[in-house]
Amino acid sequence: MFKDAISLSFFLFLAVSVTADPTFNDDVLGLIVFKAGLDDPFSKLASWNAEDTDPCNWVGCICDPVTNRVTELRLDAFSLSGHIGRGLLRLQFLHTLILSNNNLTGTLNPEFPHLASLQVIDFSGNHLSGRIPDGFFEQCGSLRSVSLANNKLTGALPVSVSYCSTLNHLNLSSNQLSGRLPRDIWFLITLKSLDFSDNLLQGQIPDGLGALYDLHLINLSSNWFSGDVPSDIGRCSSLKSIDFSDNYLSGNLPESMKTLGSCSSIRLQGNSLTGEIPDWIGDIATLETLDLSANNFSGNVPFSLGNLEFLKQVNLSTNMLTGELPHTISNCSNLISIDVSKNSFTGDVLKWIFSESSSLSRFTLHKRSGNDTILPIVGFLQGLRVLDLSSNAFSGELPSNIWILTSLVQLNLSTNSLFGSIPTAIGELKLAEILDLSSNLFNGTIPSAIGGAVSLKELNLQRNRLSGQIPAHVSNCSALNTIDLSENELSGGIPGSIGSLSNLEYIDLSRNNLSGSLPKEIEKLSHLTTFNISHNKITGELPAGGFFNTIPLSAVTGNPSLCGSVVNRSCLSVHPKPIVLNPNSSNPTNDHAFSGQIRKNVLSISALIAIGAAAFIAIGVVVVTLLNVHAKSTVARHDTAATLALSIGETFSCSPSKDQEFGKLVMFSGEADVFDTTGADALLNKDCELGRGGFGVVYKTNLQDGRPVAVKKLTVSGLIKSQEEFEREMRKLGKLRHMNVVELKGYYWTQSLQLLINDFVSGGSLYRHLHGDESVCLTWRQRFSIIIGIARGLAYLHGNNITHYNLKATNVLINATGEAKVSDFGLARLLASALDRCVLSGKVQSALGYTAPEFACRTVKITDKCDVYGFGILVLEVVTGKRPVEYAEDDVVVLCETVREGLEEGRVEECVDGRLRGNFPTEEAIPVIKLGLVCGSQVPSNRPEMEEVVKILELIQCPSHDLE
Ligand SMILES: *[C@@H]1O[C@H](CO)[C@@H](O)[C@H](O)[C@H]1NC(C)=O
Ligand SMILES: *[C@@H]1O[C@H](CO)[C@@H](O)[C@H](O)[C@H]1NC(C)=O
Ligand SMILES: *[C@@H]1O[C@H](CO)[C@@H](O)[C@H](O)[C@H]1NC(C)=O
Ligand SMILES: *[C@@H]1O[C@H](CO)[C@@H](O)[C@H](O)[C@H]1NC(C)=O
Repeated sequence: MFKDAISLSFFLFLAVSVTADPTFNDDVLGLIVFKAGLDDPFSKLASWNAEDTDPCNWVGCICDPVTNRVTELRLDAFSLSGHIGRGLLRLQFLHTLILSNNNLTGTLNPEFPHLASLQVIDFSGNHLSGRIPDGFFEQCGSLRSVSLANNKLTGALPVSVSYCSTLNHLNLSSNQLSGRLPRDIWFLITLKSLDFSDNLLQGQIPDGLGALYDLHLINLSSNWFSGDVPSDIGRCSSLKSIDFSDNYLSGNLPESMKTLGSCSSIRLQGNSLTGEIPDWIGDIATLETLDLSANNFSGNVPFSLGNLEFLKQVNLSTNMLTGELPHTISNCSNLISIDVSKNSFTGDVLKWIFSESSSLSRFTLHKRSGNDTILPIVGFLQGLRVLDLSSNAFSGELPSNIWILTSLVQLNLSTNSLFGSIPTAIGELKLAEILDLSSNLFNGTIPSAIGGAVSLKELNLQRNRLSGQIPAHVSNCSALNTIDLSENELSGGIPGSIGSLSNLEYIDLSRNNLSGSLPKEIEKLSHLTTFNISHNKITGELPAGGFFNTIPLSAVTGNPSLCGSVVNRSCLSVHPKPIVLNPNSSNPTNDHAFSGQIRKNVLSISALIAIGAAAFIAIGVVVVTLLNVHAKSTVARHDTAATLALSIGETFSCSPSKDQEFGKLVMFSGEADVFDTTGADALLNKDCELGRGGFGVVYKTNLQDGRPVAVKKLTVSGLIKSQEEFEREMRKLGKLRHMNVVELKGYYWTQSLQLLINDFVSGGSLYRHLHGDESVCLTWRQRFSIIIGIARGLAYLHGNNITHYNLKATNVLINATGEAKVSDFGLARLLASALDRCVLSGKVQSALGYTAPEFACRTVKITDKCDVYGFGILVLEVVTGKRPVEYAEDDVVVLCETVREGLEEGRVEECVDGRLRGNFPTEEAIPVIKLGLVCGSQVPSNRPEMEEVVKILELIQCPSHDLE
């Protein structure tokens, strides 16, 4: 029982003390033993000292002044942990035991209530666990109040609870108690408050509650109770507060409730109650809070609601109520909050609200007599802080005396049929934090007086017919965090003053007629998370850096004259200076100077290709002539490769070039004999061109033995700094062997020309398979195998510290057996040192739609995750058969978003390539699409590693199909 901490000598001491000191009583012994069982990390019980025989001075102990015995122990929030030991049972005169808000653990000791004197037990806010023992309530003695709230108690409530006939307060809330309420619970007729909220109790609330004539408060919220609200609840004539919210109660409100003569709070929200809100609700004259939201109430709201003159909060939201709101509500002059949102109310609610209230406040209307000080207004709107009429069918105009709402904090009128203009008086809602007028028919301009609403945090005016300019005065609302003005007819420029709203996180101005360029000032908005200006007529350059590099294309699309890396359109007008490269220069310092000059967004992809081509402008045909096959065979031994000197004649058809350059050919296989024919010509001509990419042109040719290879001529070769670097990279790539990675067989180097000799993959690119004219529709199985192949190839590359940087459908090749092979990897790295990363992002990784958002320079580190993004887009492309970005009439369709929307709206299956005609397993397709979306996440850290992707795909693959 006792902790080791209590040594033998301590007991000896106790024994001696007890005998030696007549004042030493059981209280000291009990408390010291109790303390010994606890951990007291902050030494809060330091004053509990066994040598001090008077516990009445100990912290937390209160004694009876006459008997000097401890009657109260109050240790609320002492940071104590450990078990509640039996030592306390020694305190025979204890009537109040408060150990709340500590860290106490273990199960309940059933003996405590047996202490004859004990009246109050408060163990709330600890970590007590296990069931409430049957014995706990068996001998309650004189218990008045028990709180075990906020622990981890489980199991059913013991029936013995009904024995505690003296109990006034029982609080078991926030535990994990389960099972039904024992019917006998209502034998506790002296109960004043009962709180069982936030447990797992279920079944009907048993009959007999009406016997509790003294009950003030009953809280059964957040359980699983079902059935009716007890029909005799009205007999509890002392009830002030009823909370049955968030259960599964059904049926009508019991009529007996109308006799609840002192009730101030009724909370029944979040059940399945039905029927009309009864007329007698107006009889509960003391009512201050009425929450019937999220039920199935229907019909009209009774006029009698206006009888509730003390009503402060009324929430009827999310029911099926119809008709007009009774104007008698304006009699409820104490209202603070009205929420009738999400019903089917009709009528011109604002008209009567404001006219009724102005008639009520008749002697306050001289407010505007040349004196701007707001005089007190008497009227039911005076104290109103929340008015939520959203999602109904209300009509009418917003009245100009809206300034009456002097206390208003939240005004939500969204999704109704309100019309007319927004009155300038809106600016007088000085305390308003949320103003939501969205999805109505408001027209006219946004009044610049809006700047007067200085507390505004959210301004939602989207989906109306507002026109004119965005008032610059909006910047006076310095607390603004959200502005949504989308889907209106606003025109003119975006005011630069918005840049001073430093708390802004969310701006949506999409689908208006806004024009002009983006003000520089918006770059200062450091908390932005959403910035949408799509579908306007904004021109000029998007800001670069920070947040603006991460915005998705969809947020800026539909502005034909906008430029910047996000829209993949270079701002040439901003940097008009063309860059001319001397293609024949072999002087590396010149090249360097050139690369230093490259500015972001200057080179277009076609320029890069042109630059590459310019170096060999004469080459329609490149003839690789192999000479001196036997030379330098010693190097081969070092290199485990055959190093050959060969000459390259840069010839165009019949005119052999005069200046022959000697280069170096390395074949990794060591098969020198492949080229072992003097004068063998490998012809690379236009007819054999397989394709062009950001890095070069690929030709098909045959080796001497007739084996086909794909030879890639780097068109960006002028940017490669050193042979050493090039060769180092090539050797690294040459070691890679994986069935899903195209093998690099060798390379050729001269200062001005580099060739990469790759395995030839016969089936052509994935792009051709998906979008080519002659494409035969791939089956689902083939598609899946391609996806998993790409994933394995990428995972292998990542495992070898190679980031692809340039993943797209044209860089995935399919061999004769349908196996996917990733190609064109690792080259970006060679160029990355020479080129600014921004150029790489926009240009080399040119394929629109595959580029990971973070690729767009500066702040974010580029990792393998940019490949995962490209992979995600590829997955969607393979599944849907659509290009990552498609241009429709005057719209840009971004695949990733279409699919994401499809997924959100549950139309995933429609996203799958129509050519498959439903011929695919949904149980594979859906997870594959989801995986694609996750990989295509905007945030790099949200994307999985490729290795995980492979594992996931292997799991997704249905075993039955595996066998096919
Ligand atoms: C409860 O104990 C845990 C660790 O046992 C500790 O982290 C926590 O701070 C304690 N809480 C209080 C209120 O003392
Ligand atoms: C029950 O205890 C919890 C936690 O201490 C408290 O928040 C709640 O107000 C109590 N209920 C009643 C009716 O006093
Ligand atoms: C406006 O009214 C307030 C309160 O009645 C008064 O103190 C103030 O002097 C008035 N100001 C003017 C300019 O009349
Ligand atoms: C707003 O619409 C109303 C009709 O609903 C029309 O009478 C009024 O002229 C319109 N106002 C403006 C500024 O377009």
